[in-house]
Amino acid sequence: MYRQMQAILADTVPDFELKLKAEVAAEINRLKAEKNAVILGHNYMEPALFHSIPDYVGDSLELSRKAAQIDKDIIVFCGVRFMAETAKILNPTKKVLVPSEKAGCSLASSITAADVRELKKKYPGVPVVTYINTYADVKAETDICCTSSNAAAVVESLKTDRVIFIPDEFLARNVARQTGKRIIFPTLEPTKRNGGELEYELIGWPGHCEVHEKFTLEDVKNIRRQFPDVVILAHPECRPEVVEAADFSGSTTAMIKYVEKTRAPRYLLLTECAMGDNIAAANPEKPMLRLCSVRCPHMNEITLEDTLEALRKDQFVVEMDEEIRRRALRSVERMLAVG
Ligand code: 13P
Ligand code: SF4
Repeated sequence: MYRQMQAILADTVPDFELKLKAEVAAEINRLKAEKNAVILGHNYMEPALFHSIPDYVGDSLELSRKAAQIDKDIIVFCGVRFMAETAKILNPTKKVLVPSEKAGCSLASSITAADVRELKKKYPGVPVVTYINTYADVKAETDICCTSSNAAAVVESLKTDRVIFIPDEFLARNVARQTGKRIIFPTLEPTKRNGGELEYELIGWPGHCEVHEKFTLEDVKNIRRQFPDVVILAHPECRPEVVEAADFSGSTTAMIKYVEKTRAPRYLLLTECAMGDNIAAANPEKPMLRLCSVRCPHMNEITLEDTLEALRKDQFVVEMDEEIRRRALRSVERMLAVG
């Protein structure tokens, strides 16, 4: 395990730490086989974890698809709680573990099922598109889910003038721009009338990712001033003006693929910093700038040490009410059918 990790992480993780991490990773892999478990790892996992124990890595959409197909007894989800919940929604007979109880998400906690019911009452008949970064009870109130990689396709698949798109304000604004729809935020602005018609097509919600909201247009300008040849990649949870000023915007996996397939003098990733470390380790010949004061505190809760404890003690088990799960499943499956 040490040699496998050293081959890719020698320039990223100091050797003494690599040896300690490799011991933990080897024990996790032994237990994983003994307990007939599988490990799914989100692209934001720290390099020593990302490059050692997961059987599959990916973005939210890829990991949801994979979770649905797992035939092992236990799914250990190295990601945040809403992702582990989505695995349970899709594959309910498996034991799903999330290694830390603290791995939340500012978007998931920005909206409740009662908020969605209120929105539906206010805008009857308008379909509700919910970002996958939400909890099961919110998904249960939803017509269709989406992720950062299929949000525009999901909105367009509905073929309606109006859509309620929750809870990420910036993703909603970015999707509105992509799909040519205008957007209003019912809790921020009073509705406007235009010849008797309400002036909106996409109804948003003021939830934000506490990581991506920190990147500003000023950051982009500063970096371009210092490095005019930089290629900038921004996650769609970033502010619309940041996404517009970037060279590429896409899901975490879309950004990884973009770096793999292109050859720029240097790249800047406007997303969780550990992913920059993971890409830099896998592509050592491609210079990678990072703004590493910006970390996701929730993703950072998931460590090799906690994953080992999770497997040893079968903790923390993801459970949910069966009726909520079944209703949430409809919206997730409808999304998977779109692509
Ligand atoms: P992806 O679906 O692009 O992996 O994004 C998940 C996420 O939480 C980004 O902050
Ligand atoms: Fe949630 Fe943002 Fe962290 Fe992703 S990066 S898990 S959206 S808080």
